[in-house]
Amino acid sequence: RILDDGSFTWKAPSNIALVKYWGKKEPQLPENASISFTLDACSTITTIDFSKSKPNENVNFDIYFEDEKKDDFKPKIEKFFERIKQYVPFISDYNFVIKTRNTFPHSSGIASSASGMSALALCIMSMEKALNPAISDELFNKKASFLARLGSGSAARSVEGPLVVWGKHDKIDNSSDLFGVKFSGTVHENFKNYHDTILLVDKGEKQVSSTVGHNLMNNHPFAQQRFVQANENMIKISEALKLGDLKSFISIVESEALTLHSMMMTSHPYFILMKPNTLEIINKIWAFREKTNSNICFTLDAGANVHILFPEKEKEKVNDFIISELIQFCQNNHYICDRVGFGARQI
Ligand code: PMV
Repeated sequence: RILDDGSFTWKAPSNIALVKYWGKKEPQLPENASISFTLDACSTITTIDFSKSKPNENVNFDIYFEDEKKDDFKPKIEKFFERIKQYVPFISDYNFVIKTRNTFPHSSGIASSASGMSALALCIMSMEKALNPAISDELFNKKASFLARLGSGSAARSVEGPLVVWGKHDKIDNSSDLFGVKFSGTVHENFKNYHDTILLVDKGEKQVSSTVGHNLMNNHPFAQQRFVQANENMIKISEALKLGDLKSFISIVESEALTLHSMMMTSHPYFILMKPNTLEIINKIWAFREKTNSNICFTLDAGANVHILFPEKEKEKVNDFIISELIQFCQNNHYICDRVGFGARQI
């Protein structure tokens, strides 16, 4: 089939890991399994315009971010195309214009690599589908996640929802190091429509890039034990999700966040990625939980911002608490209300 020119647009969500991926081997394979909630509001919308050209050695493209040409984004995308070319060889026969934007503010300290790489991988997969319509929906999603993973590991978890596992785990059906899969276990009502309010404590550039961060796990004295622990936490969290056990869920999720940060504090070179306000917020959350028996908990990515997770039925109570006690610790009082979502969609 011939596909001369055209355009595809996908909107892909961000995700927040409950059991964290930290540490990888080549080619972008995780050292342990991880699981995340897919988000709903925080996402990237990407359009690719493509037109047939004579075969190029390197994939030919321009990239625009929020309508502005962004040459500084090029090296990352060049590397991505280089890595995926052997799996989608047709990309060498096209010129591309990539237009991308996020639904969250540019400088929010929220990483857009997961949603961004997922959206781009899905656009490429739409071309593959146009060239080969026989490809099933299941294979489409798997391969989109496979390609996204080669751009950014956690992007493998940004194709589907509401819960996605990435990384081979003996006790989790269909799990793979190569792509993310929908969590196949049962999930209790308590976790339906879970909320994630993101407190923007530090909106600056990341202090440590993920590439540097993952590499710090090579030769890290506690790395092997950490990978074992993460795989054990995968079993524990599966059980908590099944039973609706909010208390266990909280203790696994918070411990995972603190362990991720401990790994960075105990590597060489070492980093403290939390800010004083991160700790203020954590202490307030603990005090609130103690006082009100709430099931609110926090998690962190590789930065100072705090994700606050809570069940749908507590939303009024927790929102009041966030507004009255927590937003004072955010940069310019900025925060984002999000919730669990169901994955990427074509626009
Ligand atoms: O996808 P990367 O390489 O940016 O790694 C992200 C890792 C964490 O966000 C810190 C944890 C995770 O599992 O998402």
